[in-house]
Amino acid sequence: MSDEFGQEQAIRKLTPGKLVIASHNPGKVREIAALLGPYGIEPISAASLDLPEPEETGTTFIANAELKAMQAADLSGLPALADDSGLCVDALGGDPGLFSARWAGPDKDFDFAMRTVWEGVEAKGPDAGHDAHFICALALAWPDGHVEAFEGRVDGTLVWPPRGPHGFGYDPMFQPIGYDISFGEMDPDKKHAMSHRADAFAQLVKAVF
Ligand code: IMP
Repeated sequence: MSDEFGQEQAIRKLTPGKLVIASHNPGKVREIAALLGPYGIEPISAASLDLPEPEETGTTFIANAELKAMQAADLSGLPALADDSGLCVDALGGDPGLFSARWAGPDKDFDFAMRTVWEGVEAKGPDAGHDAHFICALALAWPDGHVEAFEGRVDGTLVWPPRGPHGFGYDPMFQPIGYDISFGEMDPDKKHAMSHRADAFAQLVKAVF
């Protein structure tokens, strides 16, 4: 992180103690709690503090993660961690991107969302490539307004029809580079070790502990 004069600033360390996980998704809170357990972090969910879910008005994954983390830190008086993630498809100019969850509609229908992505790519014609990547941004904010952010990425190719029973969201139509199986076919432990989320967490752990 650099200051207004371009000087490198030291990354702020996270000391053992309470950390608000600024997500209302219990699965995410559990996963993050498990990842941070070894560092003496005591996770507290945003839901248990009755914190509101802010509108995701940012124009980047990092901006959205930062606004969620900063609001939770400000309201709770504790450090807070938030994430934002999505699938970006080159042939669709980066869509669904920030809107990955919203493309599944109110019923969270990812069969529908995956079909929409695939039909969008098909509509671009036979020369449209199938390159895609997942992004995961993580932001760690303190009550004084300081924030550190990290962005993880995994590159791959879209496949059709969707394959595999594992994972969630767009996993069955995403095949990471170097593999001939989709994230939906991959053993979950293996996915968790090589995903965009793993990449972002590795950066965070290296920087703040
Ligand atoms: P949010 O980060 O909770 O706002 O939503 C991210 C959305 O991106 C999810 O609902 C999924 O649709 C998609 N997404 C993010 N990470 C993954 C992943 O690892 N596999 C499949 N879909 C993902």
